[in-house]
Order: sequence, then structure tokens, then C-alpha cells
Amino acid sequence: MRKTWTGGLVAALATLGLGCGQAATLATPSYTFNKPTVIAGAKLFADHCSACHAVSSLRYNRLAADLGMTKAEIKKDIMLPGGANYLQGMQPTMSQADAKKWFGLPPPNLSHIVRAEGARWVYTYLTSFYWDPKRPSGWNNHIFPNVAMPDILAPWGGTYTKNGKLLQAGRESPALYHKQVAEIVAFLRYASDPSVFERRAIGRYVLGTLILLTILAYLLKKDYWRDIHNKDEAEKAKAAKKAGSAKA
Ligand code: HEC
Repeated sequence: MRKTWTGGLVAALATLGLGCGQAATLATPSYTFNKPTVIAGAKLFADHCSACHAVSSLRYNRLAADLGMTKAEIKKDIMLPGGANYLQGMQPTMSQADAKKWFGLPPPNLSHIVRAEGARWVYTYLTSFYWDPKRPSGWNNHIFPNVAMPDILAPWGGTYTKNGKLLQAGRESPALYHKQVAEIVAFLRYASDPSVFERRAIGRYVLGTLILLTILAYLLKKDYWRDIHNKDEAEKAKAAKKAGSAKA
């Protein structure tokens, strides 16, 4: 709760242009928001995040329909073994009780995280972990001080000190690592707003219909005015003829 309102305040300050250290450090994920990006993000999320986090308002069958995936693909790449149900929301493999025991609190449900905090906050959060031996987990975070979540992605992105010194290189290049984190954020953005692709698809037809109606309305207008113009011309000709015969 605390973070949600501080996040909101930071966003409000940034919008007002008042400037604020924290807002200035938020980085923007670089991705093209389309189905392939979201599918890549969903696979990464399943591999790295689903063990702890639920995305309970996203059902697997909805995911399949929205992203154009088959049930077999969802089962192979996205659903984790251990009780996941195709007709239900994404649930973590770890029980909430175990998570509470290990991390001190249950990992939050991420169904609406991008709507609540914004894509930039989530991306910056995921790339702002640093090694802090004073913390029980060994991890801390620049924009979420004393966070209970460990840096799950450190083996890929590398381990840094608070000052940004590299302690241990990750097994991925920084470019690939940032691309993959952006894909995870794209997936969470879709999860916060699952009708986005459906809306885009319908939107195309709505615009097409409106353009068609505009053309029809224009042709109709031309047709109506053609009659009026013809009538005008006929009357003008009649008047001219009358004037001519009067002169004579
Ligand atoms: C080992 C368990 C675990 C894994 C795996 C994990 N997290 Fe977390 N995560 C947590 C815990 C615990 C918290 C709560 C942190 C706190 O409140 O101090 C958290 C918090 C978060 C938050 C902040 C939520 C909020 O309400 O502010 C986000 C975003 C998040 N995790 C995203 C991810 C993503 C994305 C992944 C995969 C790359 C991931 N997490 C993997 C345990 C985990």
C-alpha cells in the first residue's frame, strides 16, 4: 500500500514537472508491444517468476486465445507442473505459507502491477537490485529499499554493488538481458490489460466501417446535390429564355 501511494506521488510529481530524484531514475523498457513480445515475456515469466508470483486474473485458456497459442504450447511453455489448471488463473508453485516463511511475506499477485505502478517502475525495479550482505536475502533494491524479493535474474544480468560495481558478470550480454526484462514487463502490461489485442483487432474493423460509411455519405450527398444543381440550372435557363422572349 505504502509503495502504491508513493509510486503514485512520484508519477504525479513527474507529470507536474516538479522533478524528483526517484522519478528521474525510472528507465523506459524498450520493446515493441505485440503478441510475439508478450509470448516471449510469458515464457520468461513462467521460467523465472511463476514459482513465487500468481497472476491470478489471467486464465491459461484466455492467454491461449489472446496470444494465438495452442493448448499444447501453453502446457509445454507456460504452465508449471504441480496443480496448474488450464481453466484457471496463473498460480505460483510455491505455497503462500512457505513463501511467507522464507521471505517474511507472501510474494504479491502481479495481475495488476503494471496498471498500479506503471511499466517504467516495474522495469526499473527489476533492473535495480544490488548485493547487500546486511539484508537477510543478501539483496536490496534502489527503488524498493529493503525489498524481500531476491534478485532472481542475477545469474543472467550480473551482480552489482550499491555503487554499481560489477561483482559477478551475468551469463547474458547486457543488451540481451535488458531485452528479456523488457519482454517480461510487456507480458505484465498485457496481464494488467488482457483485452488489448482484442480491442486492437476490433478497432481495425470499426475504423474500416467508419471510412466506408463516410464514403457512402459523401456519394449520397453528391447525389442529392446533383438533383438540386440540375433544378437550379433548369430554372436559370428558363428565366434566361423568358427574359430573351420578353426583350424580343
Ligand atoms: C523466490 C520468490 C520470488 C521470485 C522467483 C520472484 N519474486 Fe517478485 N517478489 C517476491 C517477494 C517476496 C516480493 C515482495 C517484496 C516486498 O514486498 O518486500 C516480490 C515483489 C515483486 C514486485 C513488487 C510488487 C509490488 O507490489 O510492489 C514485482 C514487480 C515483482 N516481484 C516481480 C517479479 C518478477 C517479474 C519476477 C521474475 C523475473 C519475480 N518477481 C520473481 C518474491 C519473488
